[in-house]
Amino acid sequence: MKIELSLTPALYPFRTILGQHTTVAIDVLRATTAVCAAFQAGCQYVVPVASLEELPKYRSLGYTLAAERNGQKVADADYGNSPTEYLKHNLEGTRLVYSTTNGTVTMLSAADAKHLYCGAFANLSALVDRLIADNDDVVLLCSGWKNDYCIEDTLLAGAIVERMTERTSVECVGDAAATARMLWDMAKSDLSGFCCTASHVHRLQKFGAYEDIDFAFRIDTCPVVPELRDNRLSLVH
Ligand code: MLT
Repeated sequence: MKIELSLTPALYPFRTILGQHTTVAIDVLRATTAVCAAFQAGCQYVVPVASLEELPKYRSLGYTLAAERNGQKVADADYGNSPTEYLKHNLEGTRLVYSTTNGTVTMLSAADAKHLYCGAFANLSALVDRLIADNDDVVLLCSGWKNDYCIEDTLLAGAIVERMTERTSVECVGDAAATARMLWDMAKSDLSGFCCTASHVHRLQKFGAYEDIDFAFRIDTCPVVPELRDNRLSLVH
């Protein structure tokens, strides 16, 4: 199995794994962690949309609106992008329409993939089980921040590469995936401490999102694998 890492969505078109492959959209802080939490709280499905202008249409169709820009909840939305807030509610049967600064853009930019899964530390083991069972080549696609590199997404990519390599025969294509694994090896004994200087950690701390930051770095809190199919995220069983 081949595995390649795109460090930002802008780099995704330049990857070398094309054709039949799985893409894993990664936004540890917080979009993909929040999607995992929403499903863990019982959400039925999630429709990711790129622009806020699309939201009112979904409101009239009975959807619950979840939207964030620049780390803060959008004023007219029911929810922002907080995984710990989702987990405090019973979202049983809820249909969410979801728009975030980077994460939903990332999910929607990989429409060419055979499978598009959401990856987070929250679903690391369940996700790796699924990737191994599929046995397809894998592109790990980090959201970063506005097409700039970010460390927490890269670390999750490194953790996925490590777990996959321990369980199956993996060829890392290009240098990014192998480098992410080295970085993960340096960080894994104290993930939160390693990320304490990360730019988005600082941004979220200014908004008081300490609980979310702590949650996003915990492993296997939400053993679900959200997959984008027919423009909506639902659970792989
Ligand atoms: C995003 O999509 O850019 C992030 O999830 C931002 C956030 O932490 O809310």
